Amino acid sequence: MNVFVLKDEAAIGKVVGDLFCDKVLQKPNAVLGLATGATPLPTYQRMAKRCKAREVSFKGVTTFNLDEYCDLPVEHPNSYRSFMRAELFDNIDIDLQNTHFLDGNTADEFAQCAAFDALIEEKGGIDLQLLGIGRNGHIGFNEPANAFTDGTFKVELTPSTIAANSIYFTDVPMPRYAMTMGVGSILRAKEIVLVATGSAKAEAVKAMVEGAIDPQCPASALQKHENVAIYLDPAAAALLSR
Ligand code: PGA
Repeated sequence: MNVFVLKDEAAIGKVVGDLFCDKVLQKPNAVLGLATGATPLPTYQRMAKRCKAREVSFKGVTTFNLDEYCDLPVEHPNSYRSFMRAELFDNIDIDLQNTHFLDGNTADEFAQCAAFDALIEEKGGIDLQLLGIGRNGHIGFNEPANAFTDGTFKVELTPSTIAANSIYFTDVPMPRYAMTMGVGSILRAKEIVLVATGSAKAEAVKAMVEGAIDPQCPASALQKHENVAIYLDPAAAALLSR
């Protein structure tokens, strides 16, 4: 794991946004794994800015989003499909047909999860995966558990995640279930970039970077991957000992 501490979230957004743009410049048909939440917003703003300046084009790019809520209409503003349209896809020149999401309202979750993992493989695998981290150490919606997950699956969200994300749900109750790429699916990405900002993430960051590889901190599985970069602000890095 390569850990970088930058001065603030704007600086991280610039560096990580440029990493994604550089990947696409090197490989115009790159497969990108994308994340939602507050953390990636500066990264997405940087990508949009460079696309608008015609420095990079996402026309040939394919994306897979890590996760999606269950039992929430896709057109709801809190669905991750809506989030990605508003925060990135409507601001770059990507072909929406090449953006892939899990369907949290599917009648056959097992078939859909298997098809999602198979489609990632068919597209050649994820070249660069963006991750955030939950306060409880989750990546995607892989919550603390007794064993690491492998492929994409349906998960019951923990009270910690529900507490963190409920603030976004003002009109409907926050969903209790989600579909997510498993830890195994995430580790199959060729390169991974994880961003964490703010003191609420400091404990989880310490467990991820310096703790044992333990499914109680799903992000600690990233220690097993050969090409992971972690970008932190000083508050998220505060508990690291080195
Ligand atoms: P956040 O979520 O970026 O909104 O903090 C990150 C996550 O839960 O993975």
